[in-house]
Amino acid sequence: MVQALVLYHSQEHGNTKRMAEAVAEGLRKGGCEVTLHNANQGRFPIENYPKYDCVALGSPDYYSYMAGTMKTFLDDWYISRNKPGYHVRPYAAFLSHGGGGRAKESFSLFTRLGSQVGKIVISYGSPSEEILKECIKLGSDLAKTTSNTR
Ligand SMILES: Cc1cc2nc3c(=O)[nH]c(=O)nc-3n(C[C@H](O)[C@H](O)[C@H](O)COP(=O)(O)O)c2cc1C
Repeated sequence: MVQALVLYHSQEHGNTKRMAEAVAEGLRKGGCEVTLHNANQGRFPIENYPKYDCVALGSPDYYSYMAGTMKTFLDDWYISRNKPGYHVRPYAAFLSHGGGGRAKESFSLFTRLGSQVGKIVISYGSPSEEILKECIKLGSDLAKTTSNTR
């Protein structure tokens, strides 16, 4: 079974969490076993990263950048990147913002992790039904691409 990680930061209103859960739903529909990790509740243990075949990454916009915990994940990954199992893999991304959304530019750092599936799903405030549908589709597309490339 394809193992998928949904790694996100959510804190203020739970907006990014709702998006993460919708992405996880799409991944499960696509046949993946999903692990959700809210980095606001604890640093992601980077030694677990090799277990996963794909990763979905979500962050709120904090001062026109990704949340610090997501940057910490990238730092941890970079330090481990030459060890077995840390090689590039398909990823997808989603962003929640409060009216600015310029953190999108910082998401270009995620391209280090592999090839991006779909476009970044960008949501303003509480995610609408339409946005949640886009998140579900993003998860399904990530599952499909990952299954085809394994
Ligand atoms: C410390 C902090 C900084 C923020 N900076 C921005 C910002 O620069 N631009 C923006 O559009 N929203 C900004 N926001 C709003 C959040 O991105 C927005 O409320 C988001 O939906 C919160 O996601 P969450 O409920 O999952 O924590 C900021 C919020 C916080 C708490």
